[in-house]
Amino acid sequence: MQPYSELEVFIRARYSLIEIVSSEEERVEECLRILADKLGKRFCCWSAVRGLYDYSLPVGKSVVCSEPVAALREAQKQNSPALYLFKDIQPFLSDKVTLRQLKETARALQASPKTIFLLEPKHDLPSSLDKEVTVFDFPLPDRYELGKLLDDVQAELSSARSLDPAVREQLAQAALGLTRSEAENALARALITCGYLGPDTVAAVLEEKKQIIRKGGLLDYIENCSGMQSVGGLSGLKSWVQKRTLAFTQEARDFGLPAPRGILLLGVQGCGKSLCAKAVSAAWNMPILRLDVGRLFASLMGSSESNMREAIKMAESIAPCVLWIDEIEKAFAGSKGSESDGGTSSRILATFLTWLQEKKDGVFVIATANDITSLPPELLRKGRLDETFFVDLPTAAERAEIFAIHLQARRRNPAMFSLWALAEASEGFSGSEIEQAIVAALYDAFDSRCDLQDGHILNALRQTVPLSKTRHEEVQALRAWAASRARSAS
Ligand SMILES: Nc1ncnc2c1ncn2[C@@H]1O[C@H](COP(=O)(O)OP(=O)(O)OP(=O)(O)O)[C@@H](O)[C@H]1O
Ligand SMILES: [Mg+2]
Repeated sequence: MQPYSELEVFIRARYSLIEIVSSEEERVEECLRILADKLGKRFCCWSAVRGLYDYSLPVGKSVVCSEPVAALREAQKQNSPALYLFKDIQPFLSDKVTLRQLKETARALQASPKTIFLLEPKHDLPSSLDKEVTVFDFPLPDRYELGKLLDDVQAELSSARSLDPAVREQLAQAALGLTRSEAENALARALITCGYLGPDTVAAVLEEKKQIIRKGGLLDYIENCSGMQSVGGLSGLKSWVQKRTLAFTQEARDFGLPAPRGILLLGVQGCGKSLCAKAVSAAWNMPILRLDVGRLFASLMGSSESNMREAIKMAESIAPCVLWIDEIEKAFAGSKGSESDGGTSSRILATFLTWLQEKKDGVFVIATANDITSLPPELLRKGRLDETFFVDLPTAAERAEIFAIHLQARRRNPAMFSLWALAEASEGFSGSEIEQAIVAALYDAFDSRCDLQDGHILNALRQTVPLSKTRHEEVQALRAWAASRARSAS
């Protein structure tokens, strides 16, 4: 399994200091204990409460060094090959002596058969340790591990039947993205309502997972998106998406196709970028997670960089999925060397770009942006994302289509309206402004107790000054920029 083999490589290569980022203490302990056994090493843990203790000894025995400095010295002094797991040492590292001791111990242990692991729920170590420490994101349980958990639960239910393979597969998929104990709890709750592991349990586990993702605060799990038929115009983007409907299947891999990586949707406000992001996920039948860029930087949520890692980890664990980064320019606005935010944006950008470069199949990124001036050029380089699409103001034909879609959505028959006249009267309007005009017209019609007619809409259009007029220069500049650098979505 993946964390085992990767950690084993680090240990064999005699790395001296590794930070394991995970909130699953038990799984990490179990993994290191098994590796220590396999490699013939002792396994010792440290916590401020229990001090440094040999894992094989019973609780209450051999407690020494509850002070981190003393514990590190002790680890440095001991002779036999060993793995040391320090839990929650991070808060102690604000002390200069402890920090210094950690560095010295790490250096002394270099190329020795001893390895120190720091277990932290979030990566937030002092940056002066960057050179010393290797950060390892401990993955959440994979399908295989969850499958075993399901077998255990089924066995405990003491039913003679074994789990239906299709249900087992669906349940494992539904639980992906949860920690082991979250998965156990979700199953336990589902079992109370359903009584057995069956199709109903799948829905209950999925529901639990959505709750947990939302509680995490960084990602929104967006549901019930409508497909590409809700988008007017943008036929270029539509056919690009349509052509890749089967691109995530094994069949496509066998054919020699790489999995699509992602797209950047750049464009004028209100022209349907966010709408398209959601429609793509529906078209491909994948869940969509929206990364809230604002919350990424909120100090209450912990360090921005570790928030980014966490969001990525969550997306990967439920792959295949769409990771939608709305208004991406906001995340990286400060990344151009300006030190106004202490380099946070630059570090987040670096984390994100590295991930984009190396990412495994299954997470399709859709980034949307209005403002190119603050977008870092590295992001636009070919190979990181598949394509940059420019979503321009709709043409007359596209406007007619958008009118039809929104009239239909409000239970009006588009054939009863002169779509061409409406399209002509809405030159320079965005999709969102067209929608608003229809809503305003509906109010007028409702108020005058008659059904909606062309006149109401034309009237509403006349009363609106579109953004493309009020912010003419900005829109023109964006179009000029995109003309040579992006592919038209229309
Ligand atoms: N091409 C379109 N077809 C149908 N509806 C559209 C289209 N463009 C915009 N709309 C309507 O306008 C609403 C707002 O559009 P959306 O949020 O997708 O714009 P955006 O490009 O993301 O804008 P912003 O840059 O402000 O985030 C959509 O929910 C949709 O109802
Ligand atoms: Mg948007």
